[in-house]
Amino acid sequence: MVKVLLIGNGAREHVMAEALIKGGATICAFMSKKNPAIARLCNDEIIIDNLSNFSAMIDYAKLNKVDFAIVGPEAPLVIGVANALQAQDIPTVGPTIECAQLEGSKIFMRSLLEKYKIESNIMFKQFKDMDEIKDFVHKIGKENVVVKPDGLTGGKGVKVWGDHLHSEEDIYTYCNEIFDENGRVIIEEKLDGEEFTYICFVDGKNVVGTPLVQDNKRAYNGDEGPNTGGMGSYSMGDNLLPFVSKEDVSYANDQMHKVVAAIAEETKQEYKGILYGQFMKTQKGLKIVEFNIRFGDPEAMNILTIMKSNFVTVCQDILAGTLLKPLEFEQKATVCKYLVPEGYPVNPVSHSEIIVDKEALEKIGAKLYYASVSEENGKVYSSTSRAIGIIGIANTLSEAEKIAEEGTKFVSGALFHRTDIGTQEVLDKRIQHMENVLKE
Ligand code: AMP
Ligand code: GLY
Repeated sequence: MVKVLLIGNGAREHVMAEALIKGGATICAFMSKKNPAIARLCNDEIIIDNLSNFSAMIDYAKLNKVDFAIVGPEAPLVIGVANALQAQDIPTVGPTIECAQLEGSKIFMRSLLEKYKIESNIMFKQFKDMDEIKDFVHKIGKENVVVKPDGLTGGKGVKVWGDHLHSEEDIYTYCNEIFDENGRVIIEEKLDGEEFTYICFVDGKNVVGTPLVQDNKRAYNGDEGPNTGGMGSYSMGDNLLPFVSKEDVSYANDQMHKVVAAIAEETKQEYKGILYGQFMKTQKGLKIVEFNIRFGDPEAMNILTIMKSNFVTVCQDILAGTLLKPLEFEQKATVCKYLVPEGYPVNPVSHSEIIVDKEALEKIGAKLYYASVSEENGKVYSSTSRAIGIIGIANTLSEAEKIAEEGTKFVSGALFHRTDIGTQEVLDKRIQHMENVLKE
């Protein structure tokens, strides 16, 4: 039997664990905090330690004689977990530190796309101090500005004109804040359009796509409030989105392919793992908003729950460079709603008890994935991050949304969620927005 070391402990890793077991593997996990559901799937073969403790990870992988490791989150990848494991002959699904800079540094990513003339890149410039920023902002116009710190920010560091920046002063204040923390600033042109997530499996050369998903980053209904790690996501029964065509997907795939070839050329390393393309469909075509070097969270729950292909085989193909065929997915719509602590993300209420009615969830066919929760004496408690993902899967989006929404009622605690994710109302709004953008 194949034995896999899973690294990470969120809802993304919970659904990865489930898919590995469904694929016939046994798993053990290296987690920074105990995810009770993953622990159960591992029959308690787990280690709780810092995900940067590579030597402990290597010892644990060797002790368990794992066939391969798979890494859930980006943080250990951008500091070289794949290099460390591979140096000890532990095959790893997840890119090396060199390739991981695609997410680890926005300046690296944009410069790579520029150097290799990849079309979906956008205008950007990097800054190390304030001097040139004002000139640049005047040149492109303040209303076209997006400010990003260079490194990892957990999805919360990007500030967009009109959403988070409302004056020139706001722009400069934020740039100064980044410099004060010894960061580098990147300013990008602001795009307008609809975003979608296109996650691919990559074996070094071949790039195989999965169903499109749309995440909802804002904290409150109606896309109001601060950005979060993602409040929920949906996908459609045809594995596309109403405002993204098959041709768009094939173009996106071509762009991903070019990036994989570019990174191989640039770093002399093959990208092996999961590559997440965040695209925006704009009047000027599809544009890259960012790359992530791992599954999305929540998107992994939309994708892996409907994947018919064997996830263990897919991982083995990634490692062997034999990812040659398209993968199979159920033609089902999915809706994920994240239950998050009250006050999240600004001032979350932590350590409140969560009561889950598992039987009621099962009865309506809703699936539940634990994110940032702890278990003490058989009771489940929230922390300061997203707590529980509830998934509805059905033939239509509206049925899937009803299951997910109904499912949230069977989880009680000091939590809230967005009731509008996956509703027809929001979908219509997105379609209308897309039409308006394309008409302009
Ligand atoms: P990122 O962390 O780069 O994904 O950015 C978080 C969110 O900020 C994205 O999902 C977009 O909604 C928004 N964003 C990032 N870059 C741009 C851009 N150049 N134009 C418009 N919105 C952007
Ligand atoms: N869903 C956004 C992310 O995983 O970064």
